[in-house]
Amino acid sequence: MTFNQAGVSKGDILIVDDTPDNLRLLSAMLTNQGFAVRKALSGHRAIASVQADPPDLILLDIKMPEMNGYEVCQSLKANPETCEVPIIFVSALDDALDKVRAFAVGGVDYVTKPFQEREVLARIEHQLRIQHLQQQLIEQNKELVRSNRELEQFAYVVSHDLQQPLQTVIGFVKLLLMKYQDNLDELACDYLNRIHKSGDRMQQLIQDLLIYARVGKKNQDFQSVDCNLVLKQVSDNLQMAIATQKACLSYGLLPTVIGNKIQLIQLFQNLISNAIKFVHPGVTPHVKISALQQHNEWRFGVHDNGIGIEPQNLEQIFEIFQRLHTQEKYPGTGIGLATCKKIVETQGGCIWVESQPDEGTTFYFTLKSVRNV
Ligand SMILES: Nc1ncnc2c1ncn2[C@@H]1O[C@H](COP(=O)(O)OP(=O)(O)O)[C@@H](O)[C@H]1O
Ligand SMILES: [Mg+2]
Repeated sequence: MTFNQAGVSKGDILIVDDTPDNLRLLSAMLTNQGFAVRKALSGHRAIASVQADPPDLILLDIKMPEMNGYEVCQSLKANPETCEVPIIFVSALDDALDKVRAFAVGGVDYVTKPFQEREVLARIEHQLRIQHLQQQLIEQNKELVRSNRELEQFAYVVSHDLQQPLQTVIGFVKLLLMKYQDNLDELACDYLNRIHKSGDRMQQLIQDLLIYARVGKKNQDFQSVDCNLVLKQVSDNLQMAIATQKACLSYGLLPTVIGNKIQLIQLFQNLISNAIKFVHPGVTPHVKISALQQHNEWRFGVHDNGIGIEPQNLEQIFEIFQRLHTQEKYPGTGIGLATCKKIVETQGGCIWVESQPDEGTTFYFTLKSVRNV
């Protein structure tokens, strides 16, 4: 569709009316205004014309023999190839109920006869403008999806390819420390130790980034997953941290949900490891997992007795790389919660947090429940 360019039509409009005089009148008016006009004397012809080449807009009479305007509209809306074309109903019926029906069957506007030329033109231009903007939005959205996918792919490839050289760097630093420590002065050893530490941190970042980039990429096969098995695996994986911190992890019988097992393990593991990590020094972490059924989903909670989060930070922590503390105080990469959010959202749920500073935090998230469970 083009607008107001010299020699180019302002839009392609199909007028449908069983009265030739009405058709002529509207057609002359719109042609005069620079629109390209097509005419159809019946509903059937209108549908054939739209199917052959969808116009930018349809002006559709309601009262017609054989097939009335509502039926024509319904038929066009039911077909994916013609459903996007905006339809303005034109009728002499000035009845509130008919107007409601016009919108109910998918019409975008309604003009009553006898009409004022300027009003009809204003309504047509308004609809074409909306249509144009909508089209722009669809295009921009497509472009966003494409560039997002490209970025994810980029993040994946980069993190994947960085792993190998980094491992080599760390490997040789370890070798240097092991074999030549006695020949190096204190400062050189300190430098090497720092390289080693930074290398480890970079490795952790890359691993976390890879996990983040993989969510929604692979493992999209959702099945029923027994959360008791998930929690068993998570507590095995976190055995070291739990033992070191003397943490107490408690949960009752957990439900079976629809999801991806590997990602559910990552989800619970991220939340539980945070719950164990973010405690005041000397406090024994108590982490409780709860599950509550709500309609066709389960709402899980991971409750802790940790340092809590200030209200103004509750939103930002789900963004990638957002951390509220220094590495020295609480180490981490700031990727865990962003991964949790991505996991929950790709499985059709949502995640949020409630917290009292210095008292504790609860992360809630929802997952689809298995039917009849
Ligand atoms: N259970 C919790 N209690 C207090 N703060 C938390 C908790 N979980 C997460 N946070 C805050 O949210 C930030 C982001 O968490 P996350 O993405 O897992 O990153 P990381 O654990 O690597 O720091 C953390 O750095 C921390 O400030
Ligand atoms: Mg974390």
